[in-house]
Amino acid sequence: MKLVSPSLLSADFGNLQRDIEMLNDSECDWLHVDVMDGVFVPNISFGQPVVKFIKRHATKPLDVHLMIVDPDRYVADFKAAGADILTVHYEACRHLDRTLHAIHDAGMKGGVVLNPHTAVCLLEDIIQECDLVLLMSVNPGFGGQKFIENTYNKVRQLKELCNRKNPQCLIEVDGGVNTSNAPLLYEAGADVLVAGNAVFKSENPQNTIREIKMR
Ligand code: DX5
Ligand code: ZN
Repeated sequence: MKLVSPSLLSADFGNLQRDIEMLNDSECDWLHVDVMDGVFVPNISFGQPVVKFIKRHATKPLDVHLMIVDPDRYVADFKAAGADILTVHYEACRHLDRTLHAIHDAGMKGGVVLNPHTAVCLLEDIIQECDLVLLMSVNPGFGGQKFIENTYNKVRQLKELCNRKNPQCLIEVDGGVNTSNAPLLYEAGADVLVAGNAVFKSENPQNTIREIKMR
């Protein structure tokens, strides 16, 4: 699969509705929504009220990436705000199996996110519960960072694990994705690419989305 999930973190928050409508009219598949708490990551982004606003205007599924400690406390809130897909960090969950069940019970697709330093083999006993796995290709917290090359190896390792234990599981990559590394990531086995700066800082965001998908 070749899906694109543009990250609204790089959108113009003063013109958020305009940017969401631009994505509605583009070939993107999901909208990536980065929630940061200033504790799990050094940055604070936005919370449920903004997600609710995004939902009101978006015509595509919301792919909500929680960069917060103890995400269990907010599963119901993000469902109510309109999340369709909820991903939580391996490093932020004490009882990941329970968290994924809570996400599924709430009626959302659920997935685990790995920081660049977290090994893919740690998913061996949780992959069966994942609709998707998100591999961070930068240290989370900010848009516009440089892509970490080791991500290709991780995508290949994860693809092998999915083939063995959960072939339905999607592989998503987030951080520093652009039109040059996108084809290599899809080739390595990625299904969904998140792109913030590459899309929103380009002259023509809709063309860039198409290029990421096609190349
Ligand atoms: C980083 C966020 C990303 C970020 C990606 O912590 O999880 O989703 O917005 O932005 P780019 O594509 O600019 O690296
Ligand atoms: Zn993200």
